[in-house]
Amino acid sequence: MAERRPLTIAGHTPAAPVVLAPMAGVTNRAFRSICRSFAPGLVYVNEMVMATAVLHRNPKTETMMAFGDDERPRSLQVYGSDPTDLARAVGQLCDEGRVDHVDLNFGCPAAKVTRRGGGAAVPARPALLRAIVRGAVSAAAPYGVPVTAKFRMGIDDDWRTDVRTGLICADEGAHWVALHARTVAQHYAGDARWTAIAELRAALDDAGHDIPVLGNGDIWEATDAVAMMDATGCDGVVIGRGCLGRPWLFSDLVTVLSGGDPPPSRTLGEVAATMSAHARALVEHFDGAAVRSTGEDLAMRDFRKHSGWYLSGYPVGPEMRRRFSMVKSLCEFEDLLGQLDPQACLVDGGERIRRGHTNGPIRPALPEGFRDAPDADSDMSIPDDDRAMAVSGG
Ligand SMILES: Cc1cc2nc3c(=O)[nH]c(=O)nc-3n(C[C@H](O)[C@H](O)[C@H](O)COP(=O)(O)O)c2cc1C
Repeated sequence: MAERRPLTIAGHTPAAPVVLAPMAGVTNRAFRSICRSFAPGLVYVNEMVMATAVLHRNPKTETMMAFGDDERPRSLQVYGSDPTDLARAVGQLCDEGRVDHVDLNFGCPAAKVTRRGGGAAVPARPALLRAIVRGAVSAAAPYGVPVTAKFRMGIDDDWRTDVRTGLICADEGAHWVALHARTVAQHYAGDARWTAIAELRAALDDAGHDIPVLGNGDIWEATDAVAMMDATGCDGVVIGRGCLGRPWLFSDLVTVLSGGDPPPSRTLGEVAATMSAHARALVEHFDGAAVRSTGEDLAMRDFRKHSGWYLSGYPVGPEMRRRFSMVKSLCEFEDLLGQLDPQACLVDGGERIRRGHTNGPIRPALPEGFRDAPDADSDMSIPDDDRAMAVSGG
């Protein structure tokens, strides 16, 4: 295992250079509290919120931005492609003391976002990208709040933007950059191409920037993190789908990145105990937000996808899975958990069963004429962020 430098953020030095990827609809307070119960003190990024919704104090967004009382650092991903709005939102969050770290999202591949030039299309407009990062960093700087950026390799293989994006972010004072090693066209298909992470690290080194580069994509088991760091020279890892239904991955990562052996996979009894704690935390999370339905209602509906992820790779029959996918109350849920065989084990290779998004490749949707002026440096057209509401931002 190569020598590693510790990752620090907002005065914290996590036990391992490991960051929970922001995942819309997943990495809320409840999910993070479960992850933290396995490995306290790592960096767990909240799901993405829209800058405009922050400014308008949208009630749903207020719930989305909730942190645990003892949660540090409080990391929040903010999305915005209007430099002024984003800077105002970041300034407001910092001024109200609601965050310790802001992550910027330049990786959203959703057609309705990129078609307007937003999300993962922003890095193809370097002047706009620079203005966004500069505005956010200067809004956060008076409060000592670090700003980081997460992006993809580019639009497609013929239109790579990752190195230039990294250099711009570094120039503008980003605290670290995280690369999801896929293009927009790749979406979530195929394998993440870790060589791009190595290229980004090398390019930043060549330019004299020693800001951390975090690698993201296809870390399913703790040993993958060691492999990625060794292969690319990256300074840390960002974990997305690998922890869906497997939040203990974070403690495995701390063990393995500290030189230990990965523990055996969890029995179904251990999985059921975590599911129960997670579902209860979700009820509590949604309790304050429930208007037309109860917190329990919202939580049970939301938890259905988590049940699918937790049970993947375990010998649980289709009828049981169907019942979990339709569960309506905590009582019914606990009853189903009680019917699982606590001794059952994960099938060989179960950790690597793909969960969450898997679709792709796609044909990137871009604004009219966008491709005719690739990387037009002067283009400062500001994408309309309204379309980005309620999309999954990765
Ligand atoms: C359900 C889901 C939601 C996501 N939402 C976001 C998001 O809001 N912001 C973001 O930057 N990436 C988002 N992503 C992308 C992940 O952060 C990550 O970059 C991607 O899943 C690749 O990492 P992995 O192979 O470890 O999953 C999302 C991914 C998933 C599966």
